[in-house]
Amino acid sequence: MHVPKNKSDFASLCLESGVSLPYTADTAVLSQKLTVKGLTIPNRIAYQAMEGCDSTFTGSPDELTKRRYHRFAAGGPGVIWYEATAVLPEGRANPRQSYMREDNLGDFKAILEDIKSTCLHENGYEPVVILQLTHSGRYSKPEGTPAPLIAYNDPIFEKDKPIAADRIVTDEYLDRVGEALLDSAALAKKAGFDGVDIKSCHRYLLCELLSAFERPGKYGGSFENRTRLLRETVKNAMALATDNFIISTRVNLYDGFEYPYGFGVKPGCGIEPDWDEAKRLIGELAKAGMPLMDFTMGNPYFNPHVNRPYAMGGYEPPEHPMQGVARMLQGIREVASVVPDVPVICSGLSFLGTESARVAAACINEGWFAMAGYGRATLANPDIAKQILQNGQTDIDKLCMACGKCTEIMRQPGGTPGCAVRDTEVYTPIYKSFFSKK
Ligand SMILES: Cc1cc2nc3c(=O)[nH]c(=O)nc-3n(C[C@H](O)[C@H](O)[C@H](O)COP(=O)(O)O)c2cc1C
Repeated sequence: MHVPKNKSDFASLCLESGVSLPYTADTAVLSQKLTVKGLTIPNRIAYQAMEGCDSTFTGSPDELTKRRYHRFAAGGPGVIWYEATAVLPEGRANPRQSYMREDNLGDFKAILEDIKSTCLHENGYEPVVILQLTHSGRYSKPEGTPAPLIAYNDPIFEKDKPIAADRIVTDEYLDRVGEALLDSAALAKKAGFDGVDIKSCHRYLLCELLSAFERPGKYGGSFENRTRLLRETVKNAMALATDNFIISTRVNLYDGFEYPYGFGVKPGCGIEPDWDEAKRLIGELAKAGMPLMDFTMGNPYFNPHVNRPYAMGGYEPPEHPMQGVARMLQGIREVASVVPDVPVICSGLSFLGTESARVAAACINEGWFAMAGYGRATLANPDIAKQILQNGQTDIDKLCMACGKCTEIMRQPGGTPGCAVRDTEVYTPIYKSFFSKK
């Protein structure tokens, strides 16, 4: 399998997968500004949250982190969604996960200042920067070894080795997570971020709660209970919102796991998506005043073909990657249709190679969503926004091959992901340090 390198490749992939996606040669819409409350987003390209697992052990941006955001800023996106940043020490996904506190706020102010001034200097405008706030839940590894904190026992993930009951978080603990998210949102505002994302995606803690059908108590069972922590945190965080500081969420519309272990599915329907609950949740968040949303799906550990359709990966996917891209974009369209006044950022474009901007522009023209969100492609080519805005596509010699090497590095203890294929000076040696035959 390969990502499309031109229009005819794209047409062949559509044909062989049976997928049909909107397409236009005119990508001008991606240069359009967008106003969100008092914020001006200078174009329609967002760099999605991409964690580098390379902060200092105390959680501040370190050398590789600063390099990554400097390059992102120079690339001229309209939005930079700053990577997963822990709100509690035990909820860090690795010992070098970003973690903001009062005592290292100055380091976040400094990286933000660099992002804004670099983009202004290189492109003549400043991007909107949203900080993703997270608790890694099941994937917590603050000391480098798994220390899961789970919403419920899930046999899909745990198989015949159920996680001990004392690792199931209590309702009181979840109340404290809500408070920690609020405290971090206040810090983010103080640091100068343009907004925060109450992260509810990819099966980290708040996302896992969305499918806690069998959990007792106020955070499990009914729709109201399963969505409580997200909804109430958003509602409380709205007290911090101003015209220039927004409360958002990157949220899973669909997990890709059967009921009762997945959000976005119905009993008896296997893993077939059912968008009803996602629509209801998104509608309620919009009613609470959320002015911008970022939609995604899947789990990067168990069904990465849903989360990040790939050309090469750890297993043979059960579907053509174009079907994964289509599920993502069409599902986002379906759910975004209930909040026509709220701009939505899409995910999962990197597999579309050189044709991604043409598909994204056509989707935006047809009202599917408002912004094109790029993940892996930004590691391969941090200038992708600039190149799309100037030439309608990424440079071919910087194309993300959707080869999964960034994810492979990330899964290694101490691995600091980046693009080993395109960012060779820094990341090829890192990749080789893990995977060269000794
Ligand atoms: C190395 C790596 C780090 C990531 N870090 C984050 C993160 O911090 N937060 C998040 O919401 N998603 C994260 N993602 C997921 C991406 O933002 C994106 O949703 C995914 O790669 C699919 O988009 P793409 O097809 O454009 O790559 C990460 C993905 C990769 C490969």
